[in-house]
Amino acid sequence: MKEQTLSIIKPDGVRKNLIGEVIQRFEKNGLTPIAMKMLHLTKTEAEGFYAVHKGKPFYDSLTDFMSSGPIVVMILEGEEAINKNRELMGATNPEVAAEGTIRRQYADNIEQNIVHGSDAPETAKTEIAYFFNALEVCPRP
Ligand code: CMP
Repeated sequence: MKEQTLSIIKPDGVRKNLIGEVIQRFEKNGLTPIAMKMLHLTKTEAEGFYAVHKGKPFYDSLTDFMSSGPIVVMILEGEEAINKNRELMGATNPEVAAEGTIRRQYADNIEQNIVHGSDAPETAKTEIAYFFNALEVCPRP
């Protein structure tokens, strides 16, 4: 089934000059960016995005990190886009992420893990709406 998912290249991915590398992996694996922008989130905006994690021990540090520099946010479209993106990213913790995945290859630790991807259809919907309005989405035929 054709799906949409939200992808973020986090501040560490941008700092490491991995924007092109990450997008190339998506494009080569059937995930088409249909909306994209670079943003530098405020702490409050990062807290809003990660509101589901409020109260967890890593919430403050995570939202500091996510507001520490520019990010690239994208909507990816493709067959089974949510799971395909998760496969390409690898597990949250790079130490246990599968060989060849983005996180295994490039991430420093469980927090600074290069990319974010929506984990389910409902989350994808909410996360896409957090960053994009209808006019910013460019579906392909
Ligand atoms: P992400 O896929 O963006 O979803 C939530 C983020 O919280 C996750 O990637 C990591 O950046 C961060 N995170 C999750 N678990 C931990 C943890 N145990 N310690 C620190 N950061 C975490």
